[in-house]
Amino acid sequence: MEKFELIATTLFGLEEVLANELKELGATDIELLNRAVKFKGDQTLLYKSNLHLRTALKVLKPFAQFMVHGDNDLYKKIKKINWDQYLSVEGTLAIEATVSSDYFKHSQFVALRCKDAIVDQFRDKYEKRPSIDLENPDLRLNIYIRDRICSLSLDSSSTSLGKRGYRQAQSLAPMSEVLAAGIIALSGWDKKCNVYDPMCGSGTFSIEAALIASNIAPGRFRTFGFERWKDFDASLWSSIKEEAEAQIMTPECKIYGSDLDEQAVDISQSNAINAKVDHLIEFRPMDFLKSETHFNDGIVFLNPPYGERLKEKEEIIPFYKEIGTQLKHHYEGCEAWIISSNIQALKFIGLRPSRKIRLFNGPLDCKLHKYELFRGKKGYQEKADDSN
Ligand SMILES: C[S@@+](CC[C@H](N)C(=O)[O-])C[C@H]1O[C@@H](n2cnc3c(N)ncnc32)[C@H](O)[C@@H]1O
Repeated sequence: MEKFELIATTLFGLEEVLANELKELGATDIELLNRAVKFKGDQTLLYKSNLHLRTALKVLKPFAQFMVHGDNDLYKKIKKINWDQYLSVEGTLAIEATVSSDYFKHSQFVALRCKDAIVDQFRDKYEKRPSIDLENPDLRLNIYIRDRICSLSLDSSSTSLGKRGYRQAQSLAPMSEVLAAGIIALSGWDKKCNVYDPMCGSGTFSIEAALIASNIAPGRFRTFGFERWKDFDASLWSSIKEEAEAQIMTPECKIYGSDLDEQAVDISQSNAINAKVDHLIEFRPMDFLKSETHFNDGIVFLNPPYGERLKEKEEIIPFYKEIGTQLKHHYEGCEAWIISSNIQALKFIGLRPSRKIRLFNGPLDCKLHKYELFRGKKGYQEKADDSN
């Protein structure tokens, strides 16, 4: 099968994790970029990447690159491409543009000029034009202009791969599925030791962990842009999906999720049902700070409130102090990973992190801290964290 260049986009800090996932899928010529990974692969890999990648947002297939000198030039060059090969006149189109250029300042304007060029080509040929559908188009086109270089890619995912399709309900401040899967991968979790998600919100950590441990493809519950491409190979796609189904296994670990908010627990439960992993996770309402439960081996993923909301602000430092105390008293023998944008509050956990990783949760610049709660000869590393 013919090989071509592909680009998988991701979140800041997850590039290496994504590159590892791609390597496992058989990608070659892997190159780390800023919030993306470039690689080579064939049609099979393109389909598999969409189905299996846990830390990618989109898989793009670049197909044209040229210099542009102003918006008329952009219009002319876009119109020269034969769009019939990608889209039919009855089809629907969406265009996403990103610009990083002194010559093109407005991404919306760039998207509009491209759309004009494409629909004008169809109108000239057929006296009809494809229509625009931003939500669910037959073809989603990605345009990136850097300085004077314009790159066009077909967006093979269409809807972000972060939208797995199982999270129909969500609690306040849900974490992106891609970020949760990325944190789990960064932790090096072996899929065997037990997992605890004590502020589970909509259950993202728990559900992603269950999918990983069962080898369930994250794209199992959704469709992808390439399924509506003109060159879509339906039999190749069904064989890839069948192969993925055959690889599902029963996990060795146990997964627990809890939250102070009963409604969040109900939401997590229904999301887990959607993901068909509800039998693998035990959800229950619980105040993490008051719980007497002991969890002595395993890994804890914690996404506490960051104190962004006004009513949380004053209580946030004592709250983080109590998280640290709780971890020390009830989680001896575990490893805890905590993500927060509140660097000041993180210092009050009162344990020395053995790793610190910069990540973004949406627009929020965060730190992911790893704490090893093993009581050594000298006791815990209890010194307050005074660094960033
Ligand atoms: C940032 S949200 C977690 C979002 C979650 N990771 C998700 O993907 O939806 C923080 C959660 O902590 C919960 N929470 C706050 N204080 C808690 C406590 N003392 N014990 C347990 N959960 C708590 C909140 O109810 C909220 O659901």
